[in-house]
Amino acid sequence: MNSTNNRTILLKKMMAVAGLTWFFYIVFHLFSVLTFHSGEASFNDFFMWLNGSVFYPVLLALLGSTILFHVYIAITRQLNNNSSVGERYKKPYPKAIPRTVAWLGAFVMFGFIIIHSFQMLTTKTADLYSQLHLIFSHPMMLAIYGFGILALSTHLHHGLTNVLQTLGFSSNKPHNLALVIVVAIGLGFASIPIGILYA
Ligand code: HEM
Repeated sequence: MNSTNNRTILLKKMMAVAGLTWFFYIVFHLFSVLTFHSGEASFNDFFMWLNGSVFYPVLLALLGSTILFHVYIAITRQLNNNSSVGERYKKPYPKAIPRTVAWLGAFVMFGFIIIHSFQMLTTKTADLYSQLHLIFSHPMMLAIYGFGILALSTHLHHGLTNVLQTLGFSSNKPHNLALVIVVAIGLGFASIPIGILYA
């Protein structure tokens, strides 16, 4: 195997590790936001503690750098693949998901993460609980969060199905397990706006 191939494989593995970092954050974030169902004090107190902890700036730096790395490698891999000469050099993509649809989903998810992070990081932490009520009273925001969570779920399903193989741990593609995990995550996040709408 030549050094270009080795480098390509290494970058793909690093991209998978960056994706996994986000996956673990998303699980942590889900449990954090689920405190919403325990009431205003628990929710705001949890985020006051998180924002004041030494761990928080490290978390933000890790999330920022890993998402930029993941997106950069995804785009450069796609561009290299597009410019490969001849069909036989092109990487196949799951037939069920056309490449443009997958990219559109990834773009929607990335847009959601930018909008949501900006919105949350510019809100006073002591008011987060009431701000969420305000945010989810706007139909436009419900649509943004709805599409964001949907796009996240499909992207995560693709990632979780392939990650073991990419990292060389197993040749299995655990479609069903990945499906159960992403449905649980999607429903968990959706329970916040749903809880507010039907309170
Ligand atoms: C209805 C669903 C969601 C709710 C109610 C929610 C709520 C929140 C809240 C309250 C914060 C503020 C944290 C703070 O000030 O410390 C936050 C931050 C953040 N959220 Fe979400 N979130 C949701 C879904 C998501 C999803 C699906 C993602 C990722 C794909 C995400 C990624 C982030 C990021 C990156 C931050 C900034 C870092 C942090 O403070 O943890 N959120 N979210």
